[in-house]
Amino acid sequence: MNKIPYGKQCITEEDIARVVEVLRSELITQGEVLPEFERTVAEYHGAKYGVAFANGTAALHAAYYALGTCPGDEVISSPITFAASVNGGLYCGATPRFVDMDPSTNCLDVNKLRDAITDKTKVITPVSYAGYPVDLKAIHEIAQEKGCHIIHDACHALGSRRDGTFGMEYVDMAILSFHPVKHVTTGEGGMVLTNSDELNEKLRLFRTHGITRDPARLRKNDGPWYYEMQELGYNYRLTDFQAALGLSQFARLKENLAARNAIAARYHEELKDCSFFELPPHLGFDAEGDTVHSYHLFTIRCCSAEVRKALHAYLRENKIYAQIHYVPLHLHPYYMDNFGFKEGDCPEAEAFYTGEISLPMYHSMTAEEQGFVIDTIKKFKI
Ligand SMILES: Cc1ncc(COP(=O)(O)O)c(C=O)c1O
Repeated sequence: MNKIPYGKQCITEEDIARVVEVLRSELITQGEVLPEFERTVAEYHGAKYGVAFANGTAALHAAYYALGTCPGDEVISSPITFAASVNGGLYCGATPRFVDMDPSTNCLDVNKLRDAITDKTKVITPVSYAGYPVDLKAIHEIAQEKGCHIIHDACHALGSRRDGTFGMEYVDMAILSFHPVKHVTTGEGGMVLTNSDELNEKLRLFRTHGITRDPARLRKNDGPWYYEMQELGYNYRLTDFQAALGLSQFARLKENLAARNAIAARYHEELKDCSFFELPPHLGFDAEGDTVHSYHLFTIRCCSAEVRKALHAYLRENKIYAQIHYVPLHLHPYYMDNFGFKEGDCPEAEAFYTGEISLPMYHSMTAEEQGFVIDTIKKFKI
């Protein structure tokens, strides 16, 4: 058996042909393929606009910026996430706050959210961890009451649904990532989804140096060459050949989600009697219907730190490259040193981290590969 990673891209000949077509065209960036990609992804998720970025981190930075996040503001997220979820707020000068994880969903504990909000809280950034759709409706009710914004970090949750919706009606923006371990890849890439005309404009300005050529926005107009830099933005653009890869991949999203859910169902069935770990929260799957868990990750929770360490090493010996998601964000030295976080601040997240392992989960995983992973785990001796 070849090496089995925890996640990887699946590129078809058709994907390659679409990319080559754009590479042979006149515009390989700032052309017409990127807007088509944005429209397609936005429509699928029930959003009015999609604004593509160079990666998910840039998309998060843009989202915090577009809400006017600045020094003195606080942003709240779950500690069990990738650093980018909160770093986007830090780039704008905000202070991070964490609400502990709910072990029944592995997402931010909505019951603890209200008490964590202060008059400085600008943004709540719930993460649909592993692809499990976080309860955006409940978070929205609290945010409305307290006057906060919501950025849904959906980088694990492309195509997810809860109560029949991806949840754009509950949030200011949702963030997607197209890194190769995700459901759809553009190499590197990301997107902000929004229903707001104003945020859409801000995001587009920010993506291109804060520069506009829109005659309606210009303060003066010297001629057809004229443009103005009106805000301090970045070059965070995605190229058209990347968008072509994304579009081609996106056309297979439903099959991809169905494959991931079938892999998850088999893990649940065949590993249910293993006593040394717990399986992740599971949801039924109905690609057209109410509930879709996107299963970016399949996360198990070992009964102790020692068992986790031994299982991780044993899987590697067998060329199964399981991963750990995540070192709790508040325990990274940068966060501890600059914001005073310490061990014990988020006990559920810290306990989760000590036992967590993400088993291989990618939609092109063969039945044979998964069978090998399952058999290897079953032979593990504590
Ligand atoms: C939850 C989460 N948010 C944000 C990001 C950042 O996305 P990117 O790697 O595209 O910058 C990631 C990437 O792994 C992620 O997992």
